[in-house]
Amino acid sequence: MGKVYYISKNIGIGLLVLGFIALATIIALSIAYDKERAKNKVKPGDGALESTSTPALPTTAFTPKEPWDRYRLPDSIIPVSYNVTLWPRLQPNAQGLYIFTGRSSVIFGCMKETDLIIIHCSKLNLTTTSSGYHVKLNSLGHAPAPTIRSTWLVVKTEYLVVLLQQKLQAGSKYELEAEFVGELADDLQGFYRSEYMQDGVKKVVATSQMQATHARKTFPCFDEPAMKAVFSVTIIHSPDTVALSNGKETDITDSLIDGVRVKVTTFEPTERMSTYVLAFIVCDFAEIQSNQNNLLIRIWAQRKAIADKQGDYALNVTGPILQFYEHYYNTTYPLSKSDQIALPDFHAGAMENWGLVTYRETALLYDPILSSTGNKERVTTVIAHELAHMWFGNLVTLQWWNDLWLNEGFASYVEYLGADYAEPTWNIKDQIILYDVQKVFAVDALASSHPLSRPEDEVNEPAQISEMFNTISYSKGAAVIRMLSEFLTEPVFAQGLSSYLNTFAFGNTVYTDLWVHLQQAVENTPGVQIPHSVDDIMNRWTLQMGFPVVTIDTRTGSITQNHFLLDPDSVVDRPSQFNYTWFVPIKWIKTGVEQQQYWLLQKTDTYHPMRVSGSDWILANTNVSGYFRVNYDLDNWNRLLSILNLNHQELSVINRAQIIDDAFNLARAKMISTTLALKTTKYLFKERDYIPWESFLRNLDYYTLMFDRTEVYGALQAYLKQQIQPLFEYFQTVTENWTRVPTIHTDQYNQINAIGIACNVGVDGCRELIKGWYRQWMDNQDHNPIHPNLKSTVYCTAIAFGGAEEWNFAWRMFKNSTLASEASRLRSAMACTKLPWLLNRYLEYTLDPTKIRKQDATSTIQYIARNVVGMPLAWNFVRSRWSFIFQHYGKGSFSFSSLINGITRRFSTEFELQELEKFKEDNQHVGFGSATLALEQAIEKTTANIKWVTENEAEVLRWFTEESA
Ligand SMILES: *[C@@H]1O[C@H](CO)[C@@H](O)[C@H](O)[C@H]1NC(C)=O
Ligand SMILES: *[C@@H]1O[C@H](CO)[C@@H](O)[C@H](O)[C@H]1NC(C)=O
Ligand SMILES: *[C@@H]1O[C@H](CO)[C@@H](O)[C@H](O)[C@H]1NC(C)=O
Ligand SMILES: *[C@@H]1O[C@H](CO)[C@@H](O)[C@H](O)[C@H]1NC(C)=O
Ligand SMILES: [Zn+2]
Repeated sequence: MGKVYYISKNIGIGLLVLGFIALATIIALSIAYDKERAKNKVKPGDGALESTSTPALPTTAFTPKEPWDRYRLPDSIIPVSYNVTLWPRLQPNAQGLYIFTGRSSVIFGCMKETDLIIIHCSKLNLTTTSSGYHVKLNSLGHAPAPTIRSTWLVVKTEYLVVLLQQKLQAGSKYELEAEFVGELADDLQGFYRSEYMQDGVKKVVATSQMQATHARKTFPCFDEPAMKAVFSVTIIHSPDTVALSNGKETDITDSLIDGVRVKVTTFEPTERMSTYVLAFIVCDFAEIQSNQNNLLIRIWAQRKAIADKQGDYALNVTGPILQFYEHYYNTTYPLSKSDQIALPDFHAGAMENWGLVTYRETALLYDPILSSTGNKERVTTVIAHELAHMWFGNLVTLQWWNDLWLNEGFASYVEYLGADYAEPTWNIKDQIILYDVQKVFAVDALASSHPLSRPEDEVNEPAQISEMFNTISYSKGAAVIRMLSEFLTEPVFAQGLSSYLNTFAFGNTVYTDLWVHLQQAVENTPGVQIPHSVDDIMNRWTLQMGFPVVTIDTRTGSITQNHFLLDPDSVVDRPSQFNYTWFVPIKWIKTGVEQQQYWLLQKTDTYHPMRVSGSDWILANTNVSGYFRVNYDLDNWNRLLSILNLNHQELSVINRAQIIDDAFNLARAKMISTTLALKTTKYLFKERDYIPWESFLRNLDYYTLMFDRTEVYGALQAYLKQQIQPLFEYFQTVTENWTRVPTIHTDQYNQINAIGIACNVGVDGCRELIKGWYRQWMDNQDHNPIHPNLKSTVYCTAIAFGGAEEWNFAWRMFKNSTLASEASRLRSAMACTKLPWLLNRYLEYTLDPTKIRKQDATSTIQYIARNVVGMPLAWNFVRSRWSFIFQHYGKGSFSFSSLINGITRRFSTEFELQELEKFKEDNQHVGFGSATLALEQAIEKTTANIKWVTENEAEVLRWFTEESA
């Protein structure tokens, strides 16, 4: 699926800075994709925390007796083509229900003699006759069609079953027809409706989301990705709307049906494709278009958005990105048009329907005046992600959902290449380190992680399929595919890819098919050598969970790999056929000089070139091209520290970030001392680049949470002040005293970090500056002088260091705001105040739907809990009203467990542990619903935090005190 972000990158960036002041979040930074985020209906910008745990799927050992009790279709019949006619009603019927009516026929071939037709069909009311459902079977051969004995629906497995008197003949073709009525609900699945206001009038859009298993809710179909077919679509709609689908419109006719004036839009038949990338839309949107080598490119959105030029940027980058992929895949764009549409209500971030990609508004629309750079980057990367799927995923499709990681991991990797082509000055390829690699390291270092690849027979039910859309699939997938491309070299990778796509065009594959084509490309390229086959190497990364930490002892040249676990006491109970060893491609540098790639193929090895002495040093995993962490002997660590301190630019930006991130995580895992980790940050007063700073701030977040109520915090702030001040002054200069926007893309992000931290720790002039801007806005509320990039940080800072006047102004602006992203910035900033009475009042507002919309209640409480002052208030609030909140807001909802997560993140004392246990006891009778697991985890994490604080507090205090003296 397209990307789903629970929270967008730039908002994440804002939050991190805020985080230091009041909010604490690392995870919220992460870009989540597709379905994974789709589970959470909280819109991006709400700061919803994404769950970091990726629970393993339960395996069911149950074998059903009847074919219709199995979740997978039998292989006796396969579809060839469909005719689908749909008529969505954008006005409710007499019962107040929004419905659609439809008619469909499917031509299928019989592969094996059978008297059963099993086809997916869910939530549809089929037209009935006295003898059952009105379905018709025709024969397309000479033999007559068997007569239908009975038809019935199976709710659990979502089938329509047609039992025949005679058998279908192998090798023959038949046609099955049905008529049905479905509800056009607002459930964001299948064919659904979305609503918005235009000039005070409610408008309704009919749109669709088929991935993974919702096409069956729109018309009866063989709803599995390998059941590809050609679809001829006709949509009946009211004359003042347009209809869109995967193919180009071929005919639009005015007609009168049942006395109703309608338009009938017919579309060209699709290519052979999977049901999950179908799309049907009826709306009254506007569009802008361009034509590139006879390819029609259109961007659709609400009329006002198009008039405000919010679609222009998407249109500008789509052509170049498509061109890039045509070249990269060495395959022309397979369709005759490319539509992209921004929908007011959309579950995921975007969805790669073939030829008609659907997006959340924030993932496609960019307002040249009101949007931030982060908004722009999100638009570019989401488009690049979705368009990558037009070939990889849509033209060639994985056989089954168990291989989803390859589809999504691949798109999540190449989106950086596509975006880089569209915006070559952004250096966006480097950012994969922050947004995918380091992000998934955090999840995949837990004993509860799971392998990328799962056996096909373990993924059957829709819920199990949904579970595949998680961080591991997207981000670890991206990281290991990037590693593969790095060790094969980009030209070999691209060659194998192109031959894979050409071979399997319009067909289906399993992931090993890609390995075969990459292997051939290796063999066709003299000079490229790998120590084992692509298959053997990759199996170790895809079939076992986790990743290694490679320890290099530069005194002896010995190299060892171990399964990296963040908690050294955690117990891994998932066996691995490879005993948690990997084939590790190690790119490395000796004293500034790049060396030949070395492969670690055993648990330990001795490699003499890595033995160094004197002032020589080694840095391994250059540019984090491999999916692993690196540890060294203390001497080499110290030599790396001196490089950072003497001439940090001798190391790449990514490697500087990596040294920090590895060191902090190795310290958490007790492989190196906490002091050593802290020492990697000493050079930061000279650092001007975003990625190392960002890596540090994310790691510092845990320290902030653990210590912001202890004396350590004073010393920590003093240290940070000394480190951030030069960065703040640098931006003051670069922006000519805050009058210009930095020209370098990532500088714009780093400027946000600099201002947010500097104000928090009290760098001279910072708070005054921010208050001044905010004051100007308060004095003239129609003219907001704050640049969109800086709004989140400025609002939060101004409210944190202001009083009731600042807060009340923000509240007024929040209530008046017509722009969703602005409202959500304000909502989060209002949680930054340090005045308990304001925070308590704000908490009360969250239970008043006229003040805070129900869907935003839990995330608002979370924002308040991230504030060190707000945390105990939120905890008391939630505890005292648990049963009320639980009944009215949370039952079964995902955001409810993140509420528990959010509130307890700082918990690190025995007293808090007791409170948590008491809370659990006291509310057993009410229950915890989806927060049950979260509560258990909170107890476990609190226990771990207590231990970590006990072991580290004194050392951390001493270090910060000495360094800031
Ligand atoms: C779809 O309709 C067209 C035109 O009415 C017809 O030629 C074609 O055979 C139909 N296909 C199916 C699958 O019914
Ligand atoms: C389908 O039938 C059920 C039972 O008669 C009815 O409650 C429901 O409203 C129908 N749905 C539609 C969309 O007509
Ligand atoms: C789109 O491209 C045009 C022509 O190059 C340019 O003038 C315009 O500023 C671009 N729009 C956006 C939003 O980038
Ligand atoms: C591109 O495709 C053509 C044929 O489809 C093939 O001959 C050529 O080798 C491919 N180029 C690369 C770089 O893979
Ligand atoms: Zn995707």
